[in-house]
Amino acid sequence: MAHTQVRRPAFVPEVQLHLADDIDVLWRTVGIDTPPPYWGFAWLGGQAVARYVLDHPEQVAGLRVLDLATGSGLVALAAVAAGAAEVTAADIDPYSAAAVALNARLNGATVRFVADDLLMAEPPAVDVVLVGDVCYEQEMARRMLSWLARTEARVLLGDPGRSYLPQGGLVTLASYEIPTTRSLEGVQVKRVRVFSPAAR
Ligand SMILES: C[S@@+](CC[C@H](N)C(=O)[O-])C[C@H]1O[C@@H](n2cnc3c(N)ncnc32)[C@H](O)[C@@H]1O
Repeated sequence: MAHTQVRRPAFVPEVQLHLADDIDVLWRTVGIDTPPPYWGFAWLGGQAVARYVLDHPEQVAGLRVLDLATGSGLVALAAVAAGAAEVTAADIDPYSAAAVALNARLNGATVRFVADDLLMAEPPAVDVVLVGDVCYEQEMARRMLSWLARTEARVLLGDPGRSYLPQGGLVTLASYEIPTTRSLEGVQVKRVRVFSPAAR
């Protein structure tokens, strides 16, 4: 809390989050021997999925939703706001657990948190899996996508064209231009898409 400010992500102003301005400063603060502090930023892929479920609440309303790789909890909180019946947020970073708890409280929302690596087991019984911005590392993207291919749930994946986003097998549901910062993404606006696996 000492190193973040309460902000509304530019593209998802319905949700408030404890966010940081500079990833390098925050990373040095929490310790560079820890994973990057993804939980302190609203990543472009997450903002796109969050926007999509808020604008298409029928995708999650009354359903059991998993936000895989939740980071700050942004997508999970959007699912709550869109009327999901039960929302679970999962992330392997312990700082994410703290961030999701704080951010859920900030939004008056109830979100269950799972710290286990869900990719090590079969997908849980949920109706919808939401995933924001997970295709930036090769091995992680490979594990995520093969696990997502095994779930029977509806899958919505938000991605700004990261290096390991698959070239095929995805249907584009929405395409947004999302403001960002040069310090995070090297540009001020980026094209971000929401995908569903083909043939679902
Ligand atoms: C770029 S962040 C995206 C966070 C959030 N979805 C968003 O868009 O703001 C990627 C997240 O994936 C998480 N992650 C990496 N491997 C994971 C795994 N096996 N299971 C769950 N989360 C994972 C990281 O800890 C990090 O919080």
